[in-house]
Amino acid sequence: MKIVHAASEMFPCLKTGGLADVTGALCKSLSSFGHDVSIFIPGYRKLLESAEFKKAKLKVVLQIELGDDFLRGEVYALPIGKRQTMYVIRRDEFFDRSNAYGASNRDYDDNDRRFIWFCKAIVEAMHVLEIKADILHCHDWQTGLVPLFLRMVEQERGASLALKTFFSIHNLAFQGLFPNRSFKYTNLPEEFNELDGIEFYEQISMIKGGIFFADKIMTVSPNYAREILTPDFGFGMEGALTKREEDLVGIANGIDTDVWDPRTDSHLPANYSAKNLSGKALCRKALLKETGLTDTDKPVYGMVCRLTEQKGVDSLLKRMNFFIKNDCRLVILGTGDPGYERSLKRWAKSHPDRVGVCMRLDERMSHLVEAGSDYFLMPSVFEPCGLNQMYSQRYGTLPLVSNVGGLYDTVIDFRDDEEAGTGMRFEPTEAGFKEALKVSLALFSDKASYEKAQANGMNRDFSWSNVAKGYEDLYAESI
Ligand code: ADP
Ligand code: GLC
Repeated sequence: MKIVHAASEMFPCLKTGGLADVTGALCKSLSSFGHDVSIFIPGYRKLLESAEFKKAKLKVVLQIELGDDFLRGEVYALPIGKRQTMYVIRRDEFFDRSNAYGASNRDYDDNDRRFIWFCKAIVEAMHVLEIKADILHCHDWQTGLVPLFLRMVEQERGASLALKTFFSIHNLAFQGLFPNRSFKYTNLPEEFNELDGIEFYEQISMIKGGIFFADKIMTVSPNYAREILTPDFGFGMEGALTKREEDLVGIANGIDTDVWDPRTDSHLPANYSAKNLSGKALCRKALLKETGLTDTDKPVYGMVCRLTEQKGVDSLLKRMNFFIKNDCRLVILGTGDPGYERSLKRWAKSHPDRVGVCMRLDERMSHLVEAGSDYFLMPSVFEPCGLNQMYSQRYGTLPLVSNVGGLYDTVIDFRDDEEAGTGMRFEPTEAGFKEALKVSLALFSDKASYEKAQANGMNRDFSWSNVAKGYEDLYAESI
């Protein structure tokens, strides 16, 4: 099949969260099955400055209508491996910036123009370059209008650009909502500025473009696919999604097992496997040393995430005394909400031997936290899929997760299943988290049970090749 993806992030070119890991690994797996895979991404600064980009070739110059203007853009092609092409859509005014979506905790003011233009440029590039796709798969709100623009252009120009369009929701909390006056940048007929179009409570919603106009809607775990049909998790989109329920499918993400493998991980001071865990002890030592924490025979808890409400930082802050009182260690790697950053820094300052915080984006450190911790914390309020709970199982670190979204699908609670358990899932309430922490302390001193759960996790297969099979089947079925 000829499969085209469109997204605003792809590992390693640009990553702010799991979306990048997913597009990177999914494209790689699909191409390894023999499909012809390409991906459209914006020409962000980090990518333009990379050594890789020097090999990119200018394919075409576009003039894209945006409201009353025509704005120029360039499309560069960069081959990756044998069967993958990355198309970089470049307009430096929009994307040659140090961040993807905003700075100093504020979205860029022109995100409407940037991403409406990006969506149009993808469709125009597919037309001009005559990329006749079997499948066009768009991810998240930044590409939400692509399925709609695509069908409009096909109609206007009598062209066929893609047989079927797919739209993946990675996180319904981000919808690409803009004031209704931004509608003019779409140059769409006014009929689309309505309830059955992209209008949303007197605003416009880019994600609605994907939800209403893609042939198939996907999300990143079966449990999240059910949750988003309810007001608790639907962020106001539950009505729109329910209309498309028949075309909504959830497939849990996989992980890139080349990048996340404790046997070969070059970010770690020592490697290890399920059969020989001695390297893990060295990683634990290194983690404590790097974060200035003292050694302990009590567990080390790790957390790596965006410091936002979604990730359950409030629950964590309420439980800080647990770690301190019980002589445990807590390491947090993350950036985000300045209020959360300040609170966590205060805890680290008042308990420098027990609480370590690293407030930066640091790929190497994220591997070290996974490897060096005994438990990995994800007290998320909601979690479409989550990747770290899978990384941690592979790294022999027991995940303690709230029982939501993909965390429900990917962690087996040892209290429910002693034979196969790999961690713990708790109700996302104060009492649930408190109890789970208490049990984790007891389990840590019961070495045989702890090691059993650890081995169970390390022996699970979360590889993308399995997961991508599911995508391949859906694509094939749809065409
Ligand atoms: P989300 O996409 O909601 O942020 P995921 O669990 O799907 O959550 O993916 C988050 C990804 O981002 C993981 O690969 C995680 O290790 C990584 N990550 C988050 N914060 C940091 C950080 N400060 N430094 C390095 N990697 C990070
Ligand atoms: C989103 C979600 C996360 C998911 C990731 C990749 O950012 O918050 O749960 O794992 O996308 O699909």
